[in-house]
Amino acid sequence: MHILVTGGAGYIGSHTCVELLNDGYEVIVVDNLSNSSEESLKRVETITGKQIDFHKVDLLDRESLNAVFNTTSIQAVIHFAGLKAVGESISIPLSYYHNNVTGTLILCEIMKSHNVKNMVFSSSATVYGEPKSVPIKEDFPVSAANPYGRSKLMIEDILRDLFVSDNRFNIALLRYFNPVGAHPGGSIGEDPNDIPNNLLPYISQVAVGKLPELSVFGGDYPTPDGTGIRDYIHVMDLAKGHIKALSKLESAPGIVTYNLGTGQGYSVLEMVEAFEKASGKKIPYKIIDRRQGDIAACYADPSLAKIELNWSAEQTMATFVRPPTGHGFFRNTKIRYSAGYIIS
Ligand code: NAD
Ligand code: UFG
Repeated sequence: MHILVTGGAGYIGSHTCVELLNDGYEVIVVDNLSNSSEESLKRVETITGKQIDFHKVDLLDRESLNAVFNTTSIQAVIHFAGLKAVGESISIPLSYYHNNVTGTLILCEIMKSHNVKNMVFSSSATVYGEPKSVPIKEDFPVSAANPYGRSKLMIEDILRDLFVSDNRFNIALLRYFNPVGAHPGGSIGEDPNDIPNNLLPYISQVAVGKLPELSVFGGDYPTPDGTGIRDYIHVMDLAKGHIKALSKLESAPGIVTYNLGTGQGYSVLEMVEAFEKASGKKIPYKIIDRRQGDIAACYADPSLAKIELNWSAEQTMATFVRPPTGHGFFRNTKIRYSAGYIIS
């Protein structure tokens, strides 16, 4: 079975390619490499011993994308490609809407014209906005607080409308909670180009002395230690969720929506403490004002995915931040990983 993976060179995409290849799928990747490098796909090939059919193509380039569909018979698309930085989306909203929404429209039009009707889409827990309670279920109201989140909601709506217009489509909307970690070999992982926005890559750069200290955004939330609580899900578990979603599409379920999270929330300070224990490094931090747009607590009720996909997260926080599991050269820098995070 041939699967087209858009954004397959990126963080979650590359880990999902590993699982797809290990499961015997043929993988075609389109990625414009705007936030990734072809090196990650080479490493996926090394890990799996299998080939990826890679096309450096932008989803906005209709002709080139169409050419990929012309040359291969594609049975399903896993659609990761998109811009994902919340803060940046506030500064350059038009680019976010154009890239994420228009890119998806073009992809869907081409899928339709080639009679490809199966899609797994990377949505996000951000679509729940400020939830009325936790844990969050799939039928909670949705809203968005920034252009990135709105682009995800718009795409979800577009895909729901697409299904209404043609019920031969089968679409899985996967709402990820907070992806962390890396393949255990340590050769692929999260590799932000700039100063990281997300908690664990930031902590890891503090651990290696690249950044002086962590700023903890808010110590006055209504949580046990006053810091924000999130549901950190290991990227390999997330990758496996995509394989389960693909299998689900084979049973022609129509449009389905699943939370992919662990169901367990941890505070920022709990994450810092766990990282310190695992790495043996002190993580200096200071508590500063809340970050605009952040919420107190966000964690999943993942029971629907358990029931309907037979999927649940296997890794716990102890395995996210365990002592080094591998060595690797990443973008020509020799670094040592703790479950994917640089620690020396
Ligand atoms: P990533 O930036 O590592 O991967 C996205 C990939 O898409 C990159 O390789 C990038 O080069 C590519 N891309 C972007 N625009 C493109 C375009 N127009 N044409 C072709 N390729 C394009 O991000 P990720 O963390 O792997 O996220 C994957 C998906 O999951 C994204 O849609 C993201 O919004 C979603 N998501 C991520 C998180 C998270 O915290 N990482 C949480 C929820 C949802
Ligand atoms: N945090 C800090 N300091 C930092 C970075 C983060 O204290 O330097 C805190 C945040 O305030 C929050 C927690 O750590 O309480 C997690 O923050 P992240 O930025 O790692 O993640 P978010 O929950 O804000 O958002 C992430 C992705 C979104 C995605 C969402 C899904 O960035 O794209 O998870 O739940 F939509």
